[in-house]
Amino acid sequence: MCALASCGPTKLTISHANLKPNGAPATPTLVDPGTDIKTWENTKRPQLQSELQKSVYGFLPDASSTRTLAHEVLDPNAYDGLGTIEEYTLQATATFKGTSTETSPFKMVVVTPNTSGPHPVILMESFCPNHNTVDHPKVSRNAEGFSCDGGGVTSKIMLYVFGRYISTPPMEMILQDGYAFATIFPSEYVPDSPDAGLAALKNLSPDYENEETRWGAIAAWAWGYSRMIDTLEQDPRFKNIWIPYGHSRYGKAALVAGAFDPRVSAVIAHQSGTGGASLNRRKKGETVKEITDTFPHWFSKTYAASAGKEAKMTSDQHALLALNAPNPIFLGNARRDVWSDPNGAFRAAQGASPAYNIYKKQGLKQDGLKPYHPDADISFYIRPGTHGVVKEDWPAFLEFLDAHFK
Ligand code: GCU
Repeated sequence: MCALASCGPTKLTISHANLKPNGAPATPTLVDPGTDIKTWENTKRPQLQSELQKSVYGFLPDASSTRTLAHEVLDPNAYDGLGTIEEYTLQATATFKGTSTETSPFKMVVVTPNTSGPHPVILMESFCPNHNTVDHPKVSRNAEGFSCDGGGVTSKIMLYVFGRYISTPPMEMILQDGYAFATIFPSEYVPDSPDAGLAALKNLSPDYENEETRWGAIAAWAWGYSRMIDTLEQDPRFKNIWIPYGHSRYGKAALVAGAFDPRVSAVIAHQSGTGGASLNRRKKGETVKEITDTFPHWFSKTYAASAGKEAKMTSDQHALLALNAPNPIFLGNARRDVWSDPNGAFRAAQGASPAYNIYKKQGLKQDGLKPYHPDADISFYIRPGTHGVVKEDWPAFLEFLDAHFK
């Protein structure tokens, strides 16, 4: 089996722990939402969407759909009777300028509380396969045989470095709080490695060399959250509340899902960093050069070309947060995770708040990194420690959701 930090479709750097916090940044750039909701929604918002696609993520399909190829109840009494586990096999279609392509089939695992619904749904993507996320013997093993749970010392090190919930969320806690949970392993349709990832993206984009139709893996994974919604939105067991959750690279994707899919209700983006909540122009933490050199399959070509020229970029990450307005968003951070640049995420949150103000909402509710306000529209959370998902994180995520949806 494969060690998480060294092989498989994912590549993690564990340098986060060694970096020192950086200083406070300059005044943030504020998003300009116009003077009213109509101007924001009809003019400014589409402009920002198009700029962000062009300058950072690449272009999402013009139209999409999702087919269920198979569906099975795996365990109606999982987690000591708290929930039902189901597995779907899905295939999605992406249409760019009238030409459609299909993904390879991929699995979605859904866990629903065994209490009366309808339930809001937390949607998770991860660098670990579904059988690590929903730890049940009946969940399918993915085709490549990759697992985050290599067993033995490697697994122990991974959990020690990245926290006990890095791959497996506390499902009992989630179910007891009344949330349903759905997950996919997006590497099943766009693998997280430069060669295989770029090849899959190329297959899904009919005119890949054209900047107008090219997309990066972060956008393709963001699109995956929407495919989960396609599948579940007609099911009366679920409330029409869809919450993409992701850590790090999938925190970036979760924010993109919220910025482009109007069905999304809230986003939990934990330590999303560069290409996520943190500003590019600050040049703190991970730089555009570092991220696009290491992960050439994640973003648009224009993003890579702007390395070292961040000041000239036509938009920045506060626009990504603003595009989530008026939905609540949770931005998770850790003090020593300076690779993800918590200060840059805070400045982006300040810069995004005017878009919330247009809806008579406050946006960010604090002028320092602390305290945490779970009820804020932009809920900024910072804890001690480093990059990962640790014991206190899920209670904070659920506190945020409860404050907004209960
Ligand atoms: C790397 C990468 C980050 C990313 C992180 C992760 O550290 O440089 O941009 O967020 O992996 O996904 O854990």
